[in-house]
Amino acid sequence: MIRAKIAGTGSYIPEKVATNFDLEKFLDTSDEWIVSRTGIRERHIAAECQNASDLATEAARKALEMAGVAAEEIDLIIVGTITGEFTFPSAACMVQKNLGARRAVAFDVSAACSGFIFALANAVNYHRIGTVKRSLVIGSEIMTRTVNWKDRNTCVLFGDGAGAVVLSSEEGEGGILSTHLHTDGNYWELLYQLSGSASPSFLPEVEDQGRRFVKMQGNEVFKVAVKALSDVALEALAANGLTKDDLKLIFPHQANKRILDAIGKRLDLPSDKIFVNVDRVANTSSASIPIALDEANRRGLLAPQDLILLNAFGGGFTWGAALIRW
Ligand code: UT7
Repeated sequence: MIRAKIAGTGSYIPEKVATNFDLEKFLDTSDEWIVSRTGIRERHIAAECQNASDLATEAARKALEMAGVAAEEIDLIIVGTITGEFTFPSAACMVQKNLGARRAVAFDVSAACSGFIFALANAVNYHRIGTVKRSLVIGSEIMTRTVNWKDRNTCVLFGDGAGAVVLSSEEGEGGILSTHLHTDGNYWELLYQLSGSASPSFLPEVEDQGRRFVKMQGNEVFKVAVKALSDVALEALAANGLTKDDLKLIFPHQANKRILDAIGKRLDLPSDKIFVNVDRVANTSSASIPIALDEANRRGLLAPQDLILLNAFGGGFTWGAALIRW
């Protein structure tokens, strides 16, 4: 059986750091509140000259280097992002240009914080039907440009960064075993951001001539996120005849440490099986899972045959999972 296997991982996190103490200086918040309610201690902020496609390109270069694959050998590039610098062309087009990946077909996937999993599932299917042999799947975001820095309900939560994987078609039992995607558009109002130039006229914010920011009803999102992330993990395990005891590590979307703890409780998983880096990078939306995966990979936490699970949740609502034999 031909499966997509992860041949290399990479990530890029901008240098500039904003700690909770930095935020305290201009916002009615505190390190104590942010750490106790979210687990976040700091976030990284892209330089003014950097765009989401630049972060994506850096992450992709590192993943290609690890995989030992040249950009010219890539057939497909999919970027999960909601913060591309253009409405069009896609961030993926810019990455293709930056890398010189001349043969690659490139497009973006918009699924908010689930963007990487949705992009991955797309790529896996191209590998499965045999039209693609090597692909790049990337999550990249500059979320700090989408939040209102006067709104303490949202701005403390997000950070910038990118993560990437190189997929390679291989025979055998390993690789990406299955992907599972879900959407429920009925929840759209709990988490959204109006578009720049084509916003629906029925929303009051359209009257504002100012910038349009991320809007979120955090506590409502929280409840649905915990259930959806747990359910989709169980769905992926059941689809493969496996149980939570077979898992080495899970990589949930890094939105909030309390969400990660709640998933652990629901799935009855010990805390050392749940990867956490939200304290250092905050919520990087579609970049969060590939950044976490790259960190674990480079720290030597993953060995061949380990079973790992990626699960994401985001605006839409969208949610999904991928089960992987490393
Ligand atoms: O990535 C996509 C998915 N997104 C998520 O998964 C986010 C899910 N939601 C969350 O992580 C949490 O709901 C938040 C971290 C956003 C908020 O935590 P919460 O425990 O649900 O707090 P809350 O929204 O119920 O607010 C509690 C209080 C409010 O004050 P009052 O009305 O009780 O007086 C807020 O105004 O905390 C206040 N508050 C803050 N206080 C200090 C909200 N943000 C802050 C802040 N600093 N930054």
